[in-house]
Amino acid sequence: MALTQISLIILLSLLGFYSETIMSQNCNCAPNLCCSQFGYCGTSMDHCGASQCRSGPCRGSETPTGADLVGSIVTQGFFNGIINQAGNGCAGKSFYSRDSFINATNTFPNFANTVTRREIATMFAHFTFETGHFCYIEELRATSNFCSLTSSQYPCAPGKSYYGRGPFLLSWNFNYGPCGQSLGLDLLRQPELVSSNPIVAFRAALWFWMKSMRPVLNQGFGATIRAINSLECNGGNLGAVNARIGYYRDYCRQLGVDPGANITC
Ligand SMILES: *[C@@H]1O[C@H](CO)[C@@H](O)[C@H](O)[C@H]1NC(C)=O
Repeated sequence: MALTQISLIILLSLLGFYSETIMSQNCNCAPNLCCSQFGYCGTSMDHCGASQCRSGPCRGSETPTGADLVGSIVTQGFFNGIINQAGNGCAGKSFYSRDSFINATNTFPNFANTVTRREIATMFAHFTFETGHFCYIEELRATSNFCSLTSSQYPCAPGKSYYGRGPFLLSWNFNYGPCGQSLGLDLLRQPELVSSNPIVAFRAALWFWMKSMRPVLNQGFGATIRAINSLECNGGNLGAVNARIGYYRDYCRQLGVDPGANITC
């Protein structure tokens, strides 16, 4: 019995040895091609993926994830190309940074690990439109406390105002409340954190993104306009819609990605 097992093991290892030799002999791929586990040359994930790739430019563990993935799309150059268009007097210029954006995405691993170039083009088109190329940290001329008394679940704190703050202008107690809960911050008592800490500002924007924007991404850019400001759609504010679309097309071009269908709303 023991002998049978040993012979079997030897037989199997010999087979393994020979099949490996045969396969690697079959795989004289050009230097730019990966050799797949079955000995074929190519560049698809079946050839270059971590668990399939034998040799060549294997994608394996160096495939960027998390902050590396986001950072490979939102480069310093891409970010500067936007914020450098804000005037020198802009408060946002010494507030928002690529670093604070990347650090904020680290707290949203579901976003950071799966984000695409088209998604970044969409997100930054709306950032640019809402903040004027990262000029503004908060809403201009806030005329109200944006406190809804009917929202008893998220009562306003005395003396606090929930006007628009951060890159997506988080507004109203009924948004500051759940956003703060999700981020582990008491934004009802400290709404100003969204406009005094750039990482919180971007985290608040990411909270909105995951809740309201990401679910409609696959319907095209127009659906994201409707999700962030439905009043602009159906001729409500053609100038605003066209401005958003212009930024989106520009960023798609910069990031080398097709803008897709259903761009307007
Ligand atoms: C982002 O995180 C890195 C690494 O932890 C840190 O060095 C850097 O200062 C952070 N940036 C900001 C803007 O907080």
